[in-house]
Amino acid sequence: MKNFWNELNKPIFILAPMEDVTDTVLRQVIARYGKPTVFFTEFTNVEGMFSKGETHVVHRLQYTEIERPLVAQIWGSQPENFCKAARKLVDMGFSGVDLNMGCPAQGPVSRGVCSGLINNRPLAKEIIDATKEGAAGLIPVSVKTRLGYRAIDFGWIQFVLEQKPAVLTVHLRTVSEKSKVPAHWDTLKTVVEMRDTLSSETLIIGNGDIKSLDEARQKVAEAGADGAMVGRGIFENPFLFSDTQINDKTPEEKMHLLLDHMHLWQETWGTSKHFPTLRKFFKVYANGFPGAQELRMQLMETQTPEETEQIVTSFLRAFSS
Ligand SMILES: Cc1cc2nc3c(=O)[nH]c(=O)nc-3n(C[C@H](O)[C@H](O)[C@H](O)COP(=O)(O)O)c2cc1C
Repeated sequence: MKNFWNELNKPIFILAPMEDVTDTVLRQVIARYGKPTVFFTEFTNVEGMFSKGETHVVHRLQYTEIERPLVAQIWGSQPENFCKAARKLVDMGFSGVDLNMGCPAQGPVSRGVCSGLINNRPLAKEIIDATKEGAAGLIPVSVKTRLGYRAIDFGWIQFVLEQKPAVLTVHLRTVSEKSKVPAHWDTLKTVVEMRDTLSSETLIIGNGDIKSLDEARQKVAEAGADGAMVGRGIFENPFLFSDTQINDKTPEEKMHLLLDHMHLWQETWGTSKHFPTLRKFFKVYANGFPGAQELRMQLMETQTPEETEQIVTSFLRAFSS
């Protein structure tokens, strides 16, 4: 059984999968600023991977070498499609495959998938087994889920641990809580103890609300876990994984970083992705200096990379004069 997870230094720090955020461009940008131990792709639908709509999902699985180790996250409803998907992900060179059992979005949940699987353990088991069959011991299979559906449910956690995933990442909230309450980091210790009682080798990763590596280290140590996954924290500080701060950069440096980010996005996606998927990153750079708010408002109204470039260039000119 090949398992890259066992070769990593601990604590393991992972950039969380985020739909329309953590594509190959953002992962490359984060790798330049300070690389997490492991990257995940955005969640990719296994039914979509084998349908006529395939062109709508393949961009999610695009990657470059600098993003390794890279885990492909998948979701869907048909176990046989998970099996085929895992085979394909092995061929595509992914380091691992992760099963999304935590997304609370109405669409998937109403079809009983993603976090809906918390209420359908037989199907969750079939999906894990089918994915393992497809991965054939060539890449490890992991699970990302939440603490429960309506209430914290350690029975669910126990059930997932019994399936022996290589890694269990727990977003430390219930599905009903979405992201509205602080993550329950105090529960992670119990998850670790359950793993230990089973004498299981599953790595335990906590997730939710982390804003710095120091905070991650402290929370992981308190629980005795193996690592932490960080998502939205990168919007406040994309340098988070290097233990430095974007606010150590000058306004000019921030604007050059914005332009570099945008140029990579243009080279990678051209016109194949909607511009607003890039625009949401502008606030990351136009922040923390006098005049940033006004600049941000102008940037958020741009419709094309060319318009953005003009605004940034004239800001830089005014700034240096
Ligand atoms: C915009 C956005 C998109 C997300 N997409 C995914 C996804 O594709 N797969 C997944 O497992 N979780 C997804 N999540 C959840 C995150 O991976 C993470 O569990 C959650 O944001 C909590 O971590 P944080 O507080 O560090 O952001 C998404 C979250 C956000 C904000």
